[in-house]
Amino acid sequence: MPMPPGGDRFGYSSQANAMLCLAGMSWTTLCDLSELKEAEGKYVEIDGFCLAVFLHQGEPRVMDNACPHAGGSMAGGWVDEQGCAICPWHGWGFHVADGRLKGSTAVGINVYSVRVRDFDGRRLVQADLKMP
Ligand code: FES
Repeated sequence: MPMPPGGDRFGYSSQANAMLCLAGMSWTTLCDLSELKEAEGKYVEIDGFCLAVFLHQGEPRVMDNACPHAGGSMAGGWVDEQGCAICPWHGWGFHVADGRLKGSTAVGINVYSVRVRDFDGRRLVQADLKMP
């Protein structure tokens, strides 16, 4: 099926994104599931959000890209065997499930609800990005 006009920079149509939004939710397509590699990060910038998207045990996970320590790019990191995204700058780790800093409850990073939706033969990774 041809892509309708008005697609975003990821190739997903605005119509597709609009159709997948639910009232009160802001499900936004970030990428195709096939673009993610297990335990590796992917940088996605969309609608004013700078995000790190990971695949952990086959499930996509999304967090803010800026590390709360000193602003390192979490997307340049990886997920360790304990399910923590590791910042490549100084090695801080944040649980991909809830954003808690490994070994501490004092610091955390924003994480987002994620889902995978089938649309037009693709498996879309979507995050619930609260719009201001
Ligand atoms: S900037 Fe991330 S650990 Fe320092």
